[in-house]
Amino acid sequence: MAFLPLRSVDVSAHASAAYDAWLDDLAGRLAAPDCDRAELCHSVLTAIYYPQYAGMEIERVPAAARIALLQLDPRNITLEPEYYAEIDVGRYAAIKPLIWLWEMFDKSPLGENVYLGVKFRRILAPHIFKRCGRNFKAFHFVKLSFGYNLEVGDDVVVHRHVLLDDRGGIRLGDRVSIADYANIYSHTHALHDGRDVDTPAVVLGDGVRVTYHATILAGVTMAADSMLGALAVATRDIAAGDVALGIPAQPKLKKPAREERPSFPTSTDPLAE
Ligand SMILES: CC(C)(COP(=O)(O)OP(=O)(O)OC[C@H]1O[C@@H](n2cnc3c(N)ncnc32)[C@H](O)[C@@H]1OP(=O)(O)O)[C@@H](O)C(=O)NCCC(=O)NCCS
Repeated sequence: MAFLPLRSVDVSAHASAAYDAWLDDLAGRLAAPDCDRAELCHSVLTAIYYPQYAGMEIERVPAAARIALLQLDPRNITLEPEYYAEIDVGRYAAIKPLIWLWEMFDKSPLGENVYLGVKFRRILAPHIFKRCGRNFKAFHFVKLSFGYNLEVGDDVVVHRHVLLDDRGGIRLGDRVSIADYANIYSHTHALHDGRDVDTPAVVLGDGVRVTYHATILAGVTMAADSMLGALAVATRDIAAGDVALGIPAQPKLKKPAREERPSFPTSTDPLAE
């Protein structure tokens, strides 16, 4: 193993100035007390995808492009959580435009730009989640369920293609890291009938690491500093400092005690605020 902290990467001054101006405008519009979030989502996505049709009467737009344009307005689309019986319709309605904006941004040519995307999602997240701490860092194609049942501590990192099904609630402590393609569920179905649903929350303590392609089932608590190995499925709670592996995940390794860990120089994430 080698000490490999994240390096800083320069973006051209021209591009970073354009990004910052665009992000500042978005943050300002979102923070305005009278912000119409559906309209904000609609206008931002239209500007990204089809600026040539902005303001044009929909009847004058070619038929296929008309359908595509309709997708840019959150009032025209439905998302899976809207079909869940226990949804808080009012809370979800307030954040649905921002979830759609996030998802459609990710699918656009802008979405895989880490520099821009991390900052973009950092603006939206506090308006969506129940709580969002400092320096939240999400890569592209993170998928939420309700969004409003997600609590996020400080310095949390969520990597590519992670599913955060916060239907029954997910609480992430400080410095939690969730690697690519991991899935966290907070709902489950009875064996006898899929409509019989239980929604116990998932809790990940401070410093927990969920590694790539791992899955956490509803109701699991991972205590502070524990870890779930690649491809593991956590069906039961994991004790502090344990490294659980396999299906079902079992404690197999123990993280070294803090005083036994190699000490590295302090370094910060170049994308931290
Ligand atoms: C947990 C992990 C780090 C263990 O790696 P390690 O300390 O090098 O462990 P070893 O390779 O020495 O393996 C120890 C034992 O666990 C087993 N093992 C290791 N990883 C396993 C896994 N993901 N699932 C099942 N068993 C695993 C090994 O086969 C070995 O078993 P044995 O003792 O019966 O021979 C590794 O499995 C893992 O998940 N890596 C993901 C890396 C990561 O951090 N990703 C996030 C980055 S964003």
